[in-house]
Amino acid sequence: MKIIMLGAPGAGKGTQAKMIASKYGIPHISTGDIFRANIKAGTELGKKAKEYMDKGLLVPDELVVDLIMDRFKEDDAKNGYVLDGFPRTIPQAEALDAALSKAGEAVDYAINVEVPDENIVNRMSGRRACVGCGATYHVVYNAPKTEGVCDTCGEKLILRDDDKPETVLNRLSVYHEQTQPLIDYYTKKGIAKEVDGTQDMNKVFDDIVAILG
Ligand code: AP5
Repeated sequence: MKIIMLGAPGAGKGTQAKMIASKYGIPHISTGDIFRANIKAGTELGKKAKEYMDKGLLVPDELVVDLIMDRFKEDDAKNGYVLDGFPRTIPQAEALDAALSKAGEAVDYAINVEVPDENIVNRMSGRRACVGCGATYHVVYNAPKTEGVCDTCGEKLILRDDDKPETVLNRLSVYHEQTQPLIDYYTKKGIAKEVDGTQDMNKVFDDIVAILG
């Protein structure tokens, strides 16, 4: 099963993608996580990506597409995957379709987690991310057992650099301009499905499972 998660920054794509990956036994592939791992490791790719990410801008398509195509070649991706944060532009979606159709494959579902802009800034300022394993929490909606400490690996929880309110507003406008058109793109292909992302996260997941079967 090949699934794409769509939705504004902070809509809950990562939260739901991890739950889907665990239930259906497919890998969760997040381009944001891959970039953050590269930034942490100080790679050339990480240095280039950070310049864009810190401003709330998209990393150029040419840096993203090759990276994700390489990731698909890994063994765990043979039976499908849930993509979180890719594609994010029409050229990225076209590159994905072209690569899949060469192999006689296609995306099965594009799930749009719909959350209005006014809820987003509040969600992002409360998000905390683990510096060790990348797990995400929310200080109110999904709090860790001990404040500031990851339940899974015990490392420190931080506010992401790009979760500051002024950067979040920029990410939202980039989302509306460059990523939201993908909803139409996948609607025309007949595979777009919308869920209400303002509900409790377990209810959002139930709605997704009802779609995926
Ligand atoms: P990326 O890491 O993909 O960030 P994003 O799309 O902006 O999404 P987020 O991770 O911020 O949010 P999310 O929807 O996953 O929400 P989450 O589940 O954490 O990308 C970062 C940057 O990398 C981009 O800005 C860009 O520069 C670059 N990049 C990445 N991919 C790229 C690409 N393909 N092309 C170009 N550039 C790229 O939830 C948010 C918070 O809300 C959490 O605290 C969570 O606990 C809480 N929450 C979740 N669900 C609920 C709920 N139902 N109710 C209440 N709280 C909830």
